[in-house]
Amino acid sequence: MTRMLAIASGKGGVGKTFLAATLGHAMARRGRSVLVFDGDLGLANLDIQLGIVEGEDLGAVVSGHRTLSDVVVHHPATGLDLVVGRSGSGALAGLPDARLVALCAALRRLSGRYDFTLVDLAAGLDRVCRRLAAAAGRVVVVTNDEPTALTDAYAFIKVVCAGRLSVGLVVNNVENLAAGRQTHEVLANACRRFLGLELPLLGLLRRDPRCSEAIRAQVPYLDRFPTGALAADIEELAASLLREEPANCALGA
Ligand SMILES: Nc1ncnc2c1ncn2[C@@H]1O[C@H](COP(=O)(O)OP(=O)(O)O)[C@@H](O)[C@H]1O
Ligand SMILES: [Mg+2]
Repeated sequence: MTRMLAIASGKGGVGKTFLAATLGHAMARRGRSVLVFDGDLGLANLDIQLGIVEGEDLGAVVSGHRTLSDVVVHHPATGLDLVVGRSGSGALAGLPDARLVALCAALRRLSGRYDFTLVDLAAGLDRVCRRLAAAAGRVVVVTNDEPTALTDAYAFIKVVCAGRLSVGLVVNNVENLAAGRQTHEVLANACRRFLGLELPLLGLLRRDPRCSEAIRAQVPYLDRFPTGALAADIEELAASLLREEPANCALGA
């Protein structure tokens, strides 16, 4: 069965792109075929994080010169297949809604060729985010413990997910696991009380200052620092998402 997950947050800078690339890598290391789609089309940076300089990008699809499958780029270092944007191209922002809907349908078809598809969303709650989240059907909301990140995560869950999409939480940048669980509790309580929604905790990712070192070097984090706490957290999240039976995909729906 194909699994498609949108990685969302509301707020920027909480680690969505890092998670999409690294979680995808962990799944690929477990022998799965994985597609990562860069849905942050205004400020795309999946390609930068992974050090991709050549190849076609989503801009060619938006301009009508290529189909989605034409612009898939294989990334040998991680084993991932990628559809990248190019930062500043503003590729999807001005796309008429009917074409955006068609692109989402094409993405769903393309995802049928993979075991897993991860969609790295832009910050915010705009039309593109909402359409891509709906196409995925299931959302992983990423937050950290800052009140701004929590407020924006709550807004995303309320506006985009509640009553429509399956949603779970990843708390990133946690000092320790107990603090991360507490952050989840805060948000889960608000969702239960005001939205009548259970927000399952999918994973906790510990803080690792070396994260930016891997990004700066454009080396996959799991290759550079395979034995640290954060690598273990990512591996655990990948294993748990891959373990799930299809019935569990309805969590929170
Ligand atoms: N667990 C973590 N520990 C330390 N730094 C992190 C962690 N996760 C992400 N980061 C850092 O956060 C920054 C923003 O990450 P990014 O993936 O670009 O966020 P987003 O896509 O949500 O805007 C990156 O510089 C990355 O190094
Ligand atoms: Mg990003």
